[in-house]
Amino acid sequence: MKVLLLGSGGREHALAWKISQSSQLEKLYIAPGNAGTKAYGENLDIDVLDFGAVKKAVLDLGINTVVVGPEAPLVAGISDYFEADEELKSIGVVGPSKEASMLEGSKDFAKQFMSKYNIPTAKYGTFTRENVQDGDAFLEKMKAPYVLKADGLAAGKGVLIIHDLQEAKDALRSILLDEKFGAAGARVVIEEFLDGRELSVFVITDGDSYKILPEAKDYKRIGEGDTGLNTGGMGAVSPVPFADATFKDKIENQIIIPTIKGLKAEGIRYKGFIFFGLIQVKGEPYVIEYNCRMGDPETEVVIPRLKSDILELFEGVATNTLSERDVQFDDRSAATVVMVSGGYPEAYEKGKVIYGLNTVSGSMVFHAGTTSDGPTILSSGGRVLAVTSYGKSLEVALERSYKSIEQIEFEKANYRKDIGADVV
Ligand code: AMP
Ligand code: GLY
Repeated sequence: MKVLLLGSGGREHALAWKISQSSQLEKLYIAPGNAGTKAYGENLDIDVLDFGAVKKAVLDLGINTVVVGPEAPLVAGISDYFEADEELKSIGVVGPSKEASMLEGSKDFAKQFMSKYNIPTAKYGTFTRENVQDGDAFLEKMKAPYVLKADGLAAGKGVLIIHDLQEAKDALRSILLDEKFGAAGARVVIEEFLDGRELSVFVITDGDSYKILPEAKDYKRIGEGDTGLNTGGMGAVSPVPFADATFKDKIENQIIIPTIKGLKAEGIRYKGFIFFGLIQVKGEPYVIEYNCRMGDPETEVVIPRLKSDILELFEGVATNTLSERDVQFDDRSAATVVMVSGGYPEAYEKGKVIYGLNTVSGSMVFHAGTTSDGPTILSSGGRVLAVTSYGKSLEVALERSYKSIEQIEFEKANYRKDIGADVV
């Protein structure tokens, strides 16, 4: 198979690493990729939202499978673009249609879908600039804290959790009337606050059958003890100790199966990964959000725990034969710790030389935001590296990643010292 992988983060480096191990791989291309993905294939300097350029590469290079990493090209309809094009429609695309990607692209769409198919989630109401007063009345009936969500994609910043009623009403106005989140906030979902423990569950589906991948827990806040601003993710662990077999059965029966069946019943084509952002409240699972892609940095612990050939699974997705494919997992635990640029998620400097990468043993270093200049590797983003290790337990995996991090240096590097500490 000739494969094109779209994206440039740690998720894509981990996917490239895994794809490169497949006996079915003829050649891997990554667009745009990063300094780490180069070790597994050829980086192409293409913007993932420039579908014309993606098409040209696919045809010129004889690519037969396209794997879409991030949500933006999915929400923009890359899968539909391939389907509608005579020259591209035979190419396998791992990534759902534009309509299916609305599960991530519109909170209101996701909530309506869950209520229709009885999928457990927080109670909610949706409001627009025309009915702000109804939003106020809805807030008055709820208990603090108040959860307000911009309907559309808002770069992970569109969720507000507010303790004071008046502040919540003000925030509702600033999103709906003053367009605090731009067009993403044309509608606001107000939700009941769920108090519990979060985890991420991933499924790969061809639209009919599905395979559940190992679950993970991600650490989103910049500061230790889950404090400070939200980031793209500062670390992750897999498995999640509090997700026992009974709880996982509930997730499958109450959430995964109704989701796959619901998509089918709606006539929504879904081929790719579904990311269930879940919360455990008194032993019961609830959906906080859906994403139409793998998580980052969760991929950096989930994919290392997949033993099966990933191209087998991708072929199963493309040809609707996923049910015939075998999937096996590694019993070992995996942990990843993300090294970020000092200042991130606010202003930070890029272009710092990264030292020590070749001295790391006992961990895999996935690049999240790097470029290269000859043999020199430089930081090029907020999240720079994800340092992943295996262990017979999470404790051992974490210890290894923290030891490896000591070998790596770049100016103003920062990382959380407490990844996994709450669950081990
Ligand atoms: P989302 O973008 O929907 O995943 O929300 C971002 C974060 O806000 C989640 O990871 C949760 O930590 C928190 N959150 C969202 N919705 C709720 C809710 N209904 N109750 C409690 N926390 C929530
Ligand atoms: N780690 C959370 C996400 O990928 O959205």
